[in-house]
Amino acid sequence: MTPTLQKARHNVSVDELLKPAANLVEEEPYYLPSGPEVSIFEQCHLQKLAVMLKGPTGCGKTRFVEYMAWRMGRPLVTIPCHDDLTASDLIGRYLIRHDGTVWQDGPLTRAVREGAICYLDEVVEARQDTVVILHALTDHRRILPIDKTGETVRAAPGFQLVVSYNPGYQRMLKDLKPSTRQRFVAMDLDFPPAEQEARIVTRESGTDEPTARGLVDLAHRIRSLRDRGLAEVPSTRLLIATASLVSNGIPVKEACYAALISPLSDDESLVGAMRDLVDATFV
Ligand SMILES: Nc1ncnc2c1ncn2[C@@H]1O[C@H](COP(=O)(O)OP(=O)(O)OP(=O)(O)O)[C@@H](O)[C@H]1O
Ligand SMILES: [Mg+2]
Repeated sequence: MTPTLQKARHNVSVDELLKPAANLVEEEPYYLPSGPEVSIFEQCHLQKLAVMLKGPTGCGKTRFVEYMAWRMGRPLVTIPCHDDLTASDLIGRYLIRHDGTVWQDGPLTRAVREGAICYLDEVVEARQDTVVILHALTDHRRILPIDKTGETVRAAPGFQLVVSYNPGYQRMLKDLKPSTRQRFVAMDLDFPPAEQEARIVTRESGTDEPTARGLVDLAHRIRSLRDRGLAEVPSTRLLIATASLVSNGIPVKEACYAALISPLSDDESLVGAMRDLVDATFV
């Protein structure tokens, strides 16, 4: 995604700020664990520790947080980060109305008051001066000072900060100050093992198991092209999109060309190599 598009999608408008911040996840989200992530997160929640999720795009970070919010019975506030995100976008601002000026809590403040899980997606995109406001929330103080009103909000029980970032993007973990990094328990998520990934693809797309297994097998072959210069590899999300086309009548090879290969690269030789892998997988 280009930075411009990302900004357009992530800008926090006044209307968005006025929306209720926290959503209770009412129905159990489908999440298939690949390791001990559920119990580690659960302990972090109980011990009031902030969590950092690391992992490539489309590997299940958002789904995992939604599942954990449901499991812990906490509302979930999601804030996509970008380099225009200001402290006011998170904390709140004075709004001028016909009947005077009113203070409007931002999504972070509402999460702190409501004891929600606050998920800051792609945190490395946010400016350092914005990230710094998280510090007092992630140590024993668990407070959010609001300079503009003079209020200090103490985090309600159940409040937890979760951040995620994608190690493949330009900005890296080293772009976060050590004093920020060392406030989080970091969990590495990756694409699920083949057996689990096939189950996820079957379940999420409604396709049959042999097709799902074939797509996962293909994904493994394409992922190994990373060593030959393929910068982006197919995610579980892309496999689900491809499988959804197949389960709705698109021939499997056509679905792979359009939904699995084309989004990944414009490089002719890499695209050619990936098409060959499709043809070898689905004869
Ligand atoms: N372990 C899993 N259990 C169930 N579904 C999964 C799992 N992993 C991935 N998925 C499926 O893959 C899709 C993409 O996952 P998700 O949106 O959580 O990725 P992400 O890591 O948040 O990606 P991004 O970094 O782009 O935001 C989900 O909508 C879900 O259908
Ligand atoms: Mg996500």
